[in-house]
Amino acid sequence: MKRIRLLDLPALHAPIRDRLHQTLAEVIDSGQFILGPQVEQLEIEIARYCNARFAIGCGSGSDALYLTLRALGIGQGDRVITTPFTFFATAGAISRTGARPVFADVDPQTLNLDPASLLAAIRSSGRPSAVIVVHLYGGAADLDPIRDLCREAGCALIEDAAQAIGAEYKGTRVGSLGDAGCLSFFPSKNLGAMGEAGMVLTNDPQLADTVRLLRVHGSRDRYIHEMVGTNSRLDALQAAVLRIKLQYLDQWTRMRQRNASLYTESLARSGAPVKLPRPAPYQTRHVFHQYVIRCPERDSLREFLEARGIETAVYYPVPLHLQPCYRDLGYSEGDFPIAEQAARQVLALPVHPCLAPEDIEYVVAAIHEFYSAH
Ligand SMILES: Cc1ncc(COP(=O)(O)O)c(C=O)c1O
Repeated sequence: MKRIRLLDLPALHAPIRDRLHQTLAEVIDSGQFILGPQVEQLEIEIARYCNARFAIGCGSGSDALYLTLRALGIGQGDRVITTPFTFFATAGAISRTGARPVFADVDPQTLNLDPASLLAAIRSSGRPSAVIVVHLYGGAADLDPIRDLCREAGCALIEDAAQAIGAEYKGTRVGSLGDAGCLSFFPSKNLGAMGEAGMVLTNDPQLADTVRLLRVHGSRDRYIHEMVGTNSRLDALQAAVLRIKLQYLDQWTRMRQRNASLYTESLARSGAPVKLPRPAPYQTRHVFHQYVIRCPERDSLREFLEARGIETAVYYPVPLHLQPCYRDLGYSEGDFPIAEQAARQVLALPVHPCLAPEDIEYVVAAIHEFYSAH
């Protein structure tokens, strides 16, 4: 049986295997494993790629969010508004600082933070210290109204761009449009390391300096600690891998975009009654970290595809306001109906750059077959 994986890293790396081996060998021979020249170069290259003045490498995307919040002075007694329809790390970072996550619902079309719901959350929660907007699946959230609301509320705007490196909002790269942007280089991301890695982007020199301090236990001079930070340094092996892979990112993104277009054309033609990802009502460059359809019979469709060798995934089945660890925040089912419905209906299809048009056709034919039989 044909097998279509959600992700195929060995296939992605095969054409650049020699370059990866070479750069890993160079780092091993250099004996410099934590921070150092590879990390510094990567920071320059990613800052340039994302149109940001500063980029600070750190241990993971989760840490990038945590370090950013800490650098903004956020902690106990603060409230930070975000979406309940994201990976747990977005809210987890808020809680790790001692601040309280406050949720606002998402827009039904883009599944990103809805400005109207954000306004309601700002009004009802008292003055928030920050808003974290997430560019889910690689599509930009509607930053203009969100930025205006943050400005009026006098709070910081953080972009969680973990899934969206290279995505654009009205012609500008995401991650550089708020006070800070956070990237994840988890191996499955569009630009993935071979382990954990993340990065903070900002145009603010003071914020950049504080993030740099916090990632090394708040220490500028050895054994003198100005702040209580953490150990969240990017390592040179990961940076070296990322520097090679960055050179292919635009090419890989184009393949993802091509695959997404093939799905959209072919699924529309097949007449399958699934909701397709539609372009946002503002200008964006979507980088298709995920291609996500929606349908009420999601779980049986998923099983049907699995039986035909097609891997799919659900990002995310439980919205964050309904997570067991957030019971004490006082939310209940029905509070964020759009996020809750999305959690019941979303299904991510394989869209990675190594898929051939025949693979997409195979997936679409299987979806068509499912609906013909039901
Ligand atoms: C939206 C979002 N935020 C944050 C993270 C956390 O990144 P990491 O896994 O590198 O800690 C991820 C990725 O896993 C993510 O998808």
